[in-house]
Amino acid sequence: MSPSTIPVYFQCSTATVDVGCVETILRESMLIDPSARIHVSAEVSQESHVGARTVIWHHAQVREGARIGADCVIGKGVYVDVGVVVGDRCKIQNGALLYRGVTLENGVFVGPGAILTNDRLPRAINPDGTLKQSTDWVISPIRVREGASIGAGAVIVAGVTIGRFAMVGAGAVVTKDVEDYQLVFGNPARPQGWVNASGQRVSSRKEAEEGLREEG
Ligand SMILES: CC(C)(COP(=O)(O)OP(=O)(O)OC[C@H]1O[C@@H](n2cnc3c(N)ncnc32)[C@H](O)[C@@H]1OP(=O)(O)O)[C@@H](O)C(=O)NCCC(=O)NCCS
Repeated sequence: MSPSTIPVYFQCSTATVDVGCVETILRESMLIDPSARIHVSAEVSQESHVGARTVIWHHAQVREGARIGADCVIGKGVYVDVGVVVGDRCKIQNGALLYRGVTLENGVFVGPGAILTNDRLPRAINPDGTLKQSTDWVISPIRVREGASIGAGAVIVAGVTIGRFAMVGAGAVVTKDVEDYQLVFGNPARPQGWVNASGQRVSSRKEAEEGLREEG
């Protein structure tokens, strides 16, 4: 555990009805909202921001400089890397991995075991055989726009933008940008149609956009 990690050694004994064995921690850090609930086993940097009412479950790790918004659910074993940005009302399911350079806008769903990567041409070593350092490679950022969903086990290749309310199917490997309201799946992920804000299939992007305006 790094020195900048909040020590959460209290006994987790007062289970609550809705979220189970999670407690509110009185924190010295001003960056973590007092109403956030962080499981005793989670490792949350004091240099990260965690918004109001956000719940962070067992064994999740939130690194320094990460910013998590309000009313989020961060599942068991989720990894939120240095500087990652997560908007409000996001749900990140168990075991999802969000690497540096990832930005999730508000209301994004990330399914269990999904991986959002950051290096298009990964190498451990330089051509001279020396170990690559953190400055020896370029981050290709990923942006997931408002309301979009990423299915279980999907891999999002670095540099991709996923549009508003888009839907990525389970197990997809996304190598290209996804349009607003577009449904993609497969390896490589291909456009498979359109979905509305509720996730139901519709015949066109126009229909999806009109549906949102009517609901709004
Ligand atoms: C992509 C998805 C939204 C499509 O749902 P749908 O519109 O109901 O699609 P259907 O089930 O009617 O399937 C249509 C076709 O696509 C195929 N298909 C569906 N999802 C697929 C996927 N993720 N990858 C590859 N093919 C898929 C089906 O096998 C079917 O093929 P067929 O026409 O040859 O029989 C859904 O399958 C999915 O992956 N949802 C994400 C689930 C998830 O990860 N949830 C996380 C929370 S636990």
